[in-house]
Parts: sequence; C-alpha cells; structure tokens
Amino acid sequence: MKEQKFYRHIARFYDLLDLPFENSRYKPLRQELFKDAEGFLLDAGVGTGRNFPHYPKSCQVTGIDLSPAMLSRARWRREKLGATIELREMNVLEMNFADDSFDSVVSTFLFCVLDDELQLPALKEIRRVCRPDGRIHILEYAISEDPLRRFIMKLWAPWVRFAYGAEFDRNTEQYLETAGLEQVECRFLYRDIIKLLTVRPKTNWSADKA
Ligand SMILES: C[S@@+](CC[C@H](N)C(=O)[O-])C[C@H]1O[C@@H](n2cnc3c(N)ncnc32)[C@H](O)[C@@H]1O
Repeated sequence: MKEQKFYRHIARFYDLLDLPFENSRYKPLRQELFKDAEGFLLDAGVGTGRNFPHYPKSCQVTGIDLSPAMLSRARWRREKLGATIELREMNVLEMNFADDSFDSVVSTFLFCVLDDELQLPALKEIRRVCRPDGRIHILEYAISEDPLRRFIMKLWAPWVRFAYGAEFDRNTEQYLETAGLEQVECRFLYRDIIKLLTVRPKTNWSADKA
C-alpha cells in the first residue's frame, strides 16, 4: 500500500521533522484525547508512539499501524518509557479484532493520510471494533477559513502530500452518518486548523443497510 511506502522512508526522520509542531502544538492537544478513556483502548495509526506518555494508567492499550518502520520506532519509545502497550502491524481497514473489542478508540492524524475513498471503510471498521457505548476520538487537520492561514496552508500542502501522503482537508465528518456513527462533539483545539472530533456508534444501526 502507498502508506506503507511513504512511512518506510520517513519513519526514521518522522519525530525530528515533526518536533517543532509536536512541542508547540500537538503535545498539549494529545492530553485532551484521553480524559475520559478507560478500559481497553485502541490507538489506530499509532505511528512512532507520540501518544504513549498520555495514555491513562488504568487503560489497557493496543496500538496498530500499517508501517513496520513506524512500529519499530514505537517499540523503541515503549522501551524508553517502560510502558506496557501492545503493538501490532495491522491495517485499520481490516482489523484482526473481534466486534466490540474496545471501550475507546483514538486516532491522531491518521485520517489526513487516508485517501478520500478509504475514509468511510476506515470509520466503519473502527465502529465495528468499538463497543456500542464506547467513544471514538479523532484528532485531525482542517483547512483554515482565515485567508492568510489558508494561503500558508496551501503553500505547505505539496510538501505534506509529498512527505506524509497527507491532506489538510479530508473532512472526515461527512462520512459519519453512513458509517453508523454520530457526532458527540467537534471542536477546534488549535486555532481553526486542528480539530477534535468525538463520535460514538449509533444505536439501532445495521451495517447491512449502509
Ligand atoms: C501522520 S502519522 C500519525 C502518527 C501518530 N498517530 C501521531 O499522532 O504522530 C499517520 C500514521 O498512520 C499510519 N497509517 C496509514 N495508513 C494506515 C492504515 N491503512 N492502517 C493503519 N495505519 C495506517 C502510518 O503508517 C503512520 O504511522
């Protein structure tokens, strides 16, 4: 898959390339994601494990990623932190977990990497493995409405596409209804460019009808 190829090459530079954004933007936002997390927690598209320091101690965490190279960095980080986190190479579109396996699912900057036609299948698969009363937190980029910021983001877009295979404007919300999910909350955590989308499985929804 194209994502595997992208992240094979970038994995060893990923933390370094992202460092200025990690320290100035992402770190404080990541904490927000885990406030109400409990029980079995899935981190989908775990990458190099940037979320590790923020997992609640009470959670039993599994991280999955398509890229062996990113997972190798994640294993290194896990060792460094002495954390107990299960890491598995797996595609979010086809997860090897039983239905309703997780109390919470978190994904940070995964959906910006997934092509438009993969957004719905990924949401459906996440819904399948999330318990009916569970919560799904998706941290993502959005393209700013502010003309200057929008212009700067458009200048950055080719680099982001080239280096990470990502886009700023995936607009993942548009697929929620068809995926059998409903929005609990959508709020910007950094200006109008990084948003936290919190969703839950819809009740009385059948995958066969979608
Ligand atoms: C931009 S990185 C984000 C990593 C991490 N969540 C973070 O916040 O730093 C996107 C990650 O998604 C992974 N990924 C891309 N497509 C995937 C898929 N179909 N299934 C699982 N992981 C995938 C990539 O390998 C990469 O590690």
